[in-house]
Amino acid sequence: MSDNNPKKYALSTRAVRAGQRRSHECEHSEPIYTTSSFVFDSAEQAAARFSGESPGNVYSRFTNPTVNTFERRLAEMEEGDLCVATASGMAAILSTCLALLRTGEHIVSSQGVFGSTAVLFNNYLARYGIDTSYASLTDLGAWEQQIKPETKMLFLETPSNPLAEVADIAALADLAHSHDCLLVVDNTVCTAALQQPLLHGADLVVVSTTKYIDGQGRCVGGAVVANEALAGEALGFLRTAGPCMSPFNAWVFLKGLETLKIRMQAHSASALQIAQWLEKQNAVEQVYYAGLESHPQHELAKRQQKGFGGLLAFDLKGGRDAAWRFINATQLISITANLGDAKSTITHPATTTHGRLTQDERDSVGIGDGLVRIAVGLEDVEDLMEDIQRGFSALQ
Ligand SMILES: Cc1ncc(COP(=O)(O)O)c(C=O)c1O
Repeated sequence: MSDNNPKKYALSTRAVRAGQRRSHECEHSEPIYTTSSFVFDSAEQAAARFSGESPGNVYSRFTNPTVNTFERRLAEMEEGDLCVATASGMAAILSTCLALLRTGEHIVSSQGVFGSTAVLFNNYLARYGIDTSYASLTDLGAWEQQIKPETKMLFLETPSNPLAEVADIAALADLAHSHDCLLVVDNTVCTAALQQPLLHGADLVVVSTTKYIDGQGRCVGGAVVANEALAGEALGFLRTAGPCMSPFNAWVFLKGLETLKIRMQAHSASALQIAQWLEKQNAVEQVYYAGLESHPQHELAKRQQKGFGGLLAFDLKGGRDAAWRFINATQLISITANLGDAKSTITHPATTTHGRLTQDERDSVGIGDGLVRIAVGLEDVEDLMEDIQRGFSALQ
């Protein structure tokens, strides 16, 4: 797909083809440009590149061809004008906030966002006079109540991790815009393959590419996608402050994008089958997965998403003791807090990802002691269910 081709291809085609600019070597697969700087034909050309008068590469903190190919491809998949790749998902969130917010301004965030995001908001941005209030992801009235004249950004993850609550992106975009605020959606759990927040009115998408975009647990990275003006601000910050993505990591993510849709469909199919089976187990109190008809936002998730993703959680009767016995009895699924890997992972949120919260804070966001989270990978679903059954057997 050449860059000036006016036809808009389907998402799977864009995932494989968009953004590539073949070099004079006529390579079929995209090359990795491991170079920190670029050479100019003349002093005049160097001056023109540095001043921005002539386009082209200068230095890999500013632009790198492999990183750029990844950025163009992800921008196309997210339906944004511009993508800025970053060193990690957290660097994407930090770059967005520091580029777009000033001292005295205020964020409203959904409760129960990823732990490091909450620490960034509460412990670091607060030091620079940017405060954050929290609202329940699914309660529009609660969001509105937290908005004050200084509020400039609403920030959310949907579906939430690990409880799979689903926010109404279009309704929150309307709310944000009616108060002159930006809506930022962390799209890590669904990715562009299952959900395109910009099409529902969000202003910016941030994503940890470490998860499903890599898909095999190899590299850490992130990205911001938006229109030219907003992503341009993030780009300005990135070029100066330097949390840029390495060319090697960009190449891994680029290859990840090519298989993202079929992987997300496979993660979703297995997770749904496991969630439906878990609902029938006596030892399980509640299953959290938006693909279940019993899920309170099932209809919204069906409208807003093209699949329900690979992340599910469930409450076991018997609290922490039951959860730990269950987790320790599994043999195939890896005990690790990462998600978005071909290898399934199992974790006890109350003592790992949410261990820094007090008991009261965990109770207020619904992270119980018996909660177990599984990020369903790409192994055979029968093998996974047999492994989960080992967990149930350990409870008897
Ligand atoms: C929803 C979400 N956002 C952001 C991040 C941060 O990403 P990274 O670890 O790439 O910095 C994570 C990491 O787990 C995440 O789950």
